[in-house]
Amino acid sequence: IRVAVIGGGQNCEHDVSVASAASVRKALDPAKYEAVSLTIGRDGRWHGTDGQVLDTLAAGSLAAALDVIASCDVVLPLVHGPLGEDGTLAGLCELAGVPYVGSPLRAGALAMDKWATKLVAEAVGVRTAKARLVTNASTVDFTGPVVVKPVAAGSSFGVQLVEREADLEPAVSQALQLDDRVLIEEVLHGREIDIAVLDDPDEGRRTGPPLEIQVPGLFDTTVKYDGSAKFVIPAPLDDIELKALEDAALRVYEALGCRGLARVDFFLTNDGLVLNEVNTMPGMTAESQVPKMFATVGLSYSDLLDKLVRGAMR
Ligand code: DAL
Ligand code: MG
Repeated sequence: IRVAVIGGGQNCEHDVSVASAASVRKALDPAKYEAVSLTIGRDGRWHGTDGQVLDTLAAGSLAAALDVIASCDVVLPLVHGPLGEDGTLAGLCELAGVPYVGSPLRAGALAMDKWATKLVAEAVGVRTAKARLVTNASTVDFTGPVVVKPVAAGSSFGVQLVEREADLEPAVSQALQLDDRVLIEEVLHGREIDIAVLDDPDEGRRTGPPLEIQVPGLFDTTVKYDGSAKFVIPAPLDDIELKALEDAALRVYEALGCRGLARVDFFLTNDGLVLNEVNTMPGMTAESQVPKMFATVGLSYSDLLDKLVRGAMR
């Protein structure tokens, strides 16, 4: 079975995605799968297994990549963030008629948009942080500490905790460089708990064990990838808290129309759970949250990938 493993991408999570793809290629069972590597450069050009730019066709690199994709049985798109996880790769696979792992275009687009995610989640009774949507840094007034984030980005790029009035406009301007829409959110105090939802081809849709992220401050881009964050699996929760988190994760997953796999991230506050965001293609290195969660319940990284690929090909 030929699996096109797509990594890279044209956004700030490029390196994270390259790491996810490299890990996945190594972990796919070679007795069953032939991993065909495709990497999207920061400049948008596609690179093949040998790392060379695919530009053999007159129509350019994407057309050549589509040729490779069409020669595969299934696609495993591991590009995080905009122009990948936002549904664009799912759309490409749909048009090419090749099955792919993960959410369809609509779910990817909705989940990548943190504003749209809020509207959908609130509509199915899942609380999210109160937020204002802004498109212009100069029109924002300071009402107290807030979190500023681009509507569509990932790995916390552009996310800033603003505690002083003087820092607000620069923070919004910076976030506006990553997206033309920015959210200004209330600051939440609570524990960070992630729930994975997996469409298991053998056991049906299920959640993985809850993971708690323990960090000294904001779980920002540096902390995310410098190794200082601690994952606790399973997160110590009482039955009522766990059930509420699992129910909320499943409700949001269904409402967005996700498929295959997603990691649904929450804050557990004194007033109950609050949805932070949904990742339709979460980090997938062997050390990332989702593979770690399932490993603790006896599902190895390779077997998890096998389930994802089989699920996509059904
Ligand atoms: N957006 C990163 C890759 C994650 O959620 O794991
Ligand atoms: Mg994310």
